[in-house]
Amino acid sequence: MKQSVTAFAPATVANVGCGYDIFGFAIDEPGDIVSVSRSETAGVRISEITGDGGRLPKQAEQNTAGFAVIRFLEKIQSKQGIDIKLTKQLPLGSGLGSSAASSVAALIAVNHLFDEPVQISALLTIAIEAEKLACGAAHADNVAPALFGGFILIRENDPPDIVELPVPENLHCTVIHPEIEIKTLNARKIIEPFIPLADAVKQWANTAGLVAGLYKNDLELIGRSMSDHIIEPRRARLIPHFDEVKKTAITSGAIGCSISGSGPSIFALSPSLKNAQTIAVSMRNVFTRYSIENQVYISKINQTGARILDEKA
Ligand code: HSE
Repeated sequence: MKQSVTAFAPATVANVGCGYDIFGFAIDEPGDIVSVSRSETAGVRISEITGDGGRLPKQAEQNTAGFAVIRFLEKIQSKQGIDIKLTKQLPLGSGLGSSAASSVAALIAVNHLFDEPVQISALLTIAIEAEKLACGAAHADNVAPALFGGFILIRENDPPDIVELPVPENLHCTVIHPEIEIKTLNARKIIEPFIPLADAVKQWANTAGLVAGLYKNDLELIGRSMSDHIIEPRRARLIPHFDEVKKTAITSGAIGCSISGSGPSIFALSPSLKNAQTIAVSMRNVFTRYSIENQVYISKINQTGARILDEKA
């Protein structure tokens, strides 16, 4: 019988411009690491969190990793005591799917600890519930790509109906995280609940264009379809120098650039590693010029998603 399992779940870029709450893809790094261990003491405990600066709740039911493990044990009707160790490598409130990476890594780890009694689709349902705990809305555009990897369309959240989309082999992503924090809950509140029909028409044309571009391997179609007339203009106001960063990414060779999830991270897609590196330098120069600390990540679309790192008998 396994006594402990450690798993990793990657950062994710949600929305991808035009697809608010319906598109997301995984990148290779950074990601969160969660270890779950059997305990003789009943109940689920978060025994240790590192990398969060002491800011995440340690009560298991308040933390997305703990909440996910509690729901998992309920599902399999187990009274097994579990200790959770969470290593945060994703910055909080970054728009990189931080809460999702924690819950998904925890679910993959605890499912493996019990020899995979729960299907991955049911793990997804639990992870979506954990997102509701984290930001007040049950959306799957971070948890689904963190779990499965790849570029995912969320056709429906409840019940989850997810579609894995093809990705052009040479597609690269540059993500820059400026060191400011935006809570998803707040970034969702500033979005208008109603939109003019003309804007809706533009947006659903773009979402269809993006899917077509992925299938046709047409990077230019992907790039021009990423354009978001509804969410980005409102949220961009929360990110200092967003317009300048986006402009420099495009002039440096990006096919498209937008806010990653609810921000403040900004991502750009490009056709090669060399392009992605050039874009990284140009985006970074903007934030550095304004003395805003930042981190840059370059990756292809991660096709693996969450994975087991280690297990102990
Ligand atoms: N689709 C969500 C949002 C992602 O934009 O609010 C949050 O990471």
